[in-house]
Amino acid sequence: MTDHVTTVEGTPDVPAPPGTGVGGGRASAGPTASATPSPAGTSGGPGLVASGLLPMYTRDLSAFFGSHKAIENVTLDFPRNTVTAIIGPSGCGKSTYLRCLNRMHEMVPHARCTGSVYLRDTDIYGKDADPVAVRRAVGMVFQRPNPFPTKSIADNILAGPRFTRAKLDKAQREDLVERTLRGAGLWDEVKNRLQAQAGGLSGGQQQRLCIARALAEEPDVLLMDEPCSALDPQSTMRIEDLIRSIKDRVTIVIVTHNMQQAARVSDFTAFITIANEGEPGRLIETGFTKDVFGNPQQERTEAYVSGRFG
Ligand SMILES: Nc1ncnc2c1ncn2[C@@H]1O[C@H](COP(=O)(O)OP(=O)(O)OP(=O)(O)O)[C@@H](O)[C@H]1O
Ligand SMILES: [Mg+2]
Repeated sequence: MTDHVTTVEGTPDVPAPPGTGVGGGRASAGPTASATPSPAGTSGGPGLVASGLLPMYTRDLSAFFGSHKAIENVTLDFPRNTVTAIIGPSGCGKSTYLRCLNRMHEMVPHARCTGSVYLRDTDIYGKDADPVAVRRAVGMVFQRPNPFPTKSIADNILAGPRFTRAKLDKAQREDLVERTLRGAGLWDEVKNRLQAQAGGLSGGQQQRLCIARALAEEPDVLLMDEPCSALDPQSTMRIEDLIRSIKDRVTIVIVTHNMQQAARVSDFTAFITIANEGEPGRLIETGFTKDVFGNPQQERTEAYVSGRFG
């Protein structure tokens, strides 16, 4: 149940995303301010949305569990075909923020959010928005791989498209399965056992299958919540390779506790933290990953990325 308040009306002004090179490319915010990458309109504002360069952005997004505010006023842009890493200490609200981006947060009893999440030019919390369509357009991959374990590998890929697309004939289904598994770097490993149960794959293979399953829906945005934390280093590298190879098709937001991973795979990094116990998570700094790690503007970011806290 969402008690949602929309704060942006009409056509929103869109601040330049960090990657546009306009407005300095850096965003930082004090503990009470929401971070805004650059003054609204400096890169053409709504033009960025109209041209498809900004598939997703949030404005003043706050999320609650009952009376507890988990995150406060998070304003962030996710430019097309980029990877943004969300980092911050445990409990700061990273997963909660991610779940607000595809309307999964509201599935928790008594959870709600305020502010805006735009998918292209549509507020996903607008009164006409369809949560099911939103979740199709904004895919999600979790910490633990969660394929349908008793379904076949092929049926895992086809599960979504079977519901959402016009009836596919056998050749179309086979083509979709192959293309999707190739795209997820899994085809060669599974092509001879497409009808085997997905639960029989290794953890790393299951996670790539979950990514493939999400990609089969042709999402605009893919959310990944610590997708490698249950995997060994080799499987982790394969997922990171996969992230690099799919970002020309999908905009990626990844939560990770692994600073090296954030540095390796992301274009932009956003640092969220809580100032004191019981307070909500707030966005402290965002910008190019190399700047957030190499030349952070905020002391707390520096302490976190250098491992001195969190
Ligand atoms: N289902 C829930 N019901 C009530 N409170 C919750 C629920 N899920 C999370 N919270 C609270 O919301 C806050 C943010 O939690 P969240 O899981 O988003 O943090 P996180 O940054 O993802 O942490 P981690 O790095 O450990 O995964 C925490 O105070 C947490 O206890
Ligand atoms: Mg989490």
